[in-house]
Amino acid sequence: MMPIDLRSDTVTQPSPGMREAMARAEVGDDVFAGDPTVNRLQELCAERFGMEAGLFFPSGTQSNLAALMAHCQRGEEVIVGQDAHTYHYEAGGMAVLGSIQPQPLTNRPDGSLDLVEVEAAIKPDDSHFAITRLLALENTIGGKVLSRRYMADALALAKRRKLSTHLDGARIFNAAVKLGLPVKDLCAGFDTVSVCLSKGLGTPAGTVLVGRSDLLGRARRIRKMLGGGMRQVGILAAAGIYALEHNVERLAEDHANAERLARGLAALGLKVEPVQTNMVFTAIPKESAVALQQHLASSGVAVLAGAKLRLVTHLDVDAKAVDGALAGFAGFFAQAPAHAAD
Ligand SMILES: Cc1ncc(COP(=O)(O)O)c(C=O)c1O
Repeated sequence: MMPIDLRSDTVTQPSPGMREAMARAEVGDDVFAGDPTVNRLQELCAERFGMEAGLFFPSGTQSNLAALMAHCQRGEEVIVGQDAHTYHYEAGGMAVLGSIQPQPLTNRPDGSLDLVEVEAAIKPDDSHFAITRLLALENTIGGKVLSRRYMADALALAKRRKLSTHLDGARIFNAAVKLGLPVKDLCAGFDTVSVCLSKGLGTPAGTVLVGRSDLLGRARRIRKMLGGGMRQVGILAAAGIYALEHNVERLAEDHANAERLARGLAALGLKVEPVQTNMVFTAIPKESAVALQQHLASSGVAVLAGAKLRLVTHLDVDAKAVDGALAGFAGFFAQAPAHAAD
């Protein structure tokens, strides 16, 4: 039996149809911009997002970093959330490799940044200060959706204060499906958006940065510098095209399965945060976190141990798998009811 892997939506296996598309891909040398499948994917993404251009990257981390470096010169600053992937989970790349100063702000419980705080964080033109250049947001963030209204307000502020804008849209299709909006409408106004294909969309790798063509021209040079210029990579781009054609609308199933999982965990007496997309967060007493992970592993359910357990639904988790995972949780809490969080 295939294990039920709830660690992340990055764990999916490419489907037979996706593998077939990869095997048949027409390829060329993408460093010379000569891979027709990569070019098609980039054009497709640019068109879907209503942006001038697209650029294929091996990973979301590299796409975000190249974007930040394209926006900011050495010594310039980005306003970003404390919980943002670009700030918290990318090994400090913007500072280490880009000489960019992050100005982190605390994310509100809904994942947004307080726009009054954003405005207050913009530095005056004074030689003591770094030059505030960029506002970077993330959608979805921790599984939560930033509304179009919020993003429009943030974009209006950025425009008024002459900041450029980047969106880490690693899971932007989850947000768009949840809101029932085309990504073109949801992302309108951002200078760059980083769109991962290897999360909910189920490819083995790949992210497309879409946005203004001048910024993407700079990002192309930076991608080369970072070692992200790939050769016959149409094999991966073909997986991306397949994913855009087959795996977007079905994200609603992942969201429904996450709801099902959340309801089941709540029925076991666990505290579960309201679910918006494909992530479920539940509190587990610290002392039980490792024992629970081991118990679940022995029942074929993979989770990352933690007092705040994050469970992620994806292409390879259907309703039956959710029920299987819930049976694993029920088994653990039946043995040790005191483990249930209060
Ligand atoms: C919101 C967000 N942005 C960016 C990334 C980076 O993507 P990658 O793992 O492809 O580098 C991730 C990865 O999980 C992510 O969750």
